Amino acid sequence: MALLQMLARACFTVMCFIQNLLPCIKGRIPEPGRWLHALLDVIHRGENKLFKLESLTDFYHTYGLFRFENKVYIFDPKLTQTVINKLEKGAGDYLENSPLKDTFLGSSSRSPEIRRAIAALFRKSTLEERGGLIIADVDNMCNKIGLEAKEGHVINITDWSLRMAMDVVGHMLLQLDLFAIEGKQEALLECLMTILHRCYALGEITSDSEEFKQANETLQKETTTILEKALQKEDKSTDTRFVIKLHEACGFEQARDNMKLFLMAGSETTASTIPVFCYLMATYARVQDELRQEADENMAALRADPALTLPKMESVLREVLRVYPIAPFISRQTTQQLVVGDVTIGANTDIKAFTWGIHRSSTQWDQSKEFVPFRFLNSGEKSASAMYIPFGAGSRICIGQHLAMLELKLACAIMLNRFKFCKVSETPELRFVTDWAHAVVHPDKDMFFKLEAR
Ligand code: HEM
Ligand SMILES: *[C@@H]1O[C@H](CO)[C@@H](O)[C@H](O)[C@H]1NC(C)=O
Ligand SMILES: *[C@@H]1O[C@H](CO)[C@@H](O)[C@H](O)[C@H]1NC(C)=O
Repeated sequence: MALLQMLARACFTVMCFIQNLLPCIKGRIPEPGRWLHALLDVIHRGENKLFKLESLTDFYHTYGLFRFENKVYIFDPKLTQTVINKLEKGAGDYLENSPLKDTFLGSSSRSPEIRRAIAALFRKSTLEERGGLIIADVDNMCNKIGLEAKEGHVINITDWSLRMAMDVVGHMLLQLDLFAIEGKQEALLECLMTILHRCYALGEITSDSEEFKQANETLQKETTTILEKALQKEDKSTDTRFVIKLHEACGFEQARDNMKLFLMAGSETTASTIPVFCYLMATYARVQDELRQEADENMAALRADPALTLPKMESVLREVLRVYPIAPFISRQTTQQLVVGDVTIGANTDIKAFTWGIHRSSTQWDQSKEFVPFRFLNSGEKSASAMYIPFGAGSRICIGQHLAMLELKLACAIMLNRFKFCKVSETPELRFVTDWAHAVVHPDKDMFFKLEAR
């Protein structure tokens, strides 16, 4: 098997070399034939399809795009920019069975007024002013983790980061106490895991299975309860909380659906990034020490001003999202013919701006497939002009990007300040599974570490 794989790799390298010598046929969208498919199947056997697509970006480098399973993947920076600027989201189709179908993510026609109602909440300066709330949630999580670690348990970082991220969404966006860290959202956490991990990422159950339907109902019930409770409270005329505004702007059902969106988009992504960060820290102990030193030196100042810059930490986090972009592609759809560069793409085509391939392209980055922790501190890099789009781009860029970066910076700095992360036999290898419907990658297994309190 290993020999066959080696042969296939050698064969692919030669084909790739020849392909890139050939002139590119103008106006054509290339598509792998049977041979190339077979080779890629052998090379990437058992791996995430993302790696197959990544190989195709090397293969079709001169074209900057290719067709695969009836979708057009674009990775040339210029072409990608054109597609992002010219096209609407079109998430309605790929979210067909998802609980997010009717939110403003799914249907852009509803977005303008709700977007305006919430824009202020997501502004960088507003978030930084309220950063103390994130710090409190991170501290709360660290206290709980500390107790578990003291008893000699290995720590389920996947679990704790999801709880923490959920409480942060509660405090920062909905202005509600969800108490996920305290263990008061077990039903909600479980149905999120069933829907996002077991169904969409791992494919253990289908979206028409009983289990999925049950989880979907629980999600509906739990979010309804949370919203009802929020609306009961206090005097509405003086209540300026976001949930109230959202409810006023779009009514109960849409408010609840958008709450679901925030809980899912806002918890899952950040919560998947933290275990990846922890894994890399446990792997590169020197980097862990260096970041801890920065965190230690700045802890008092950071607690006083959450906006404080931590150059090394921020560089590492940017690099984590470069080499493992948690959102591996951005989906767009054509409604009519679209000309990009010299190719014409037909109407009603699914287009993927392929972030994963763009971020890991050897033509744009040195050591493109490796984790180079302080790459972004190093301005001499070829990468200075490379396309970097972990949060997407254009008018539909991630609305939560500043929240995500602030939360990651604070959580990672405080965690390193309090604990040392070590791998143990329970720590799985870092492998990814993809939720193609919501465009998110997760580590395939829950991440466990031994944490030593300092
Ligand atoms: C590491 C964390 C995160 C990453 C990598 C990420 C990435 C992305 C990407 C790539 C998109 C699609 C952009 C596009 O289609 O052009 C997106 C959309 C979105 N994200 Fe995030 N995100 C993260 C965290 C968050 C957080 C914390 C929230 C908070 C609620 C959030 C809320 C959203 C929403 C609501 C959308 C849809 C925006 C729209 O369609 O207009 N995200 N995100
Ligand atoms: C999930 O629940 C929502 C709300 O109850 C419903 O509209 C949607 O059709 C359900 N989706 C699936 C796949 O069952
Ligand atoms: C670790 O956390 C995840 C996410 O909450 C959970 O689904 C899983 O059951 C936990 N694993 C163990 C062994 O407790």
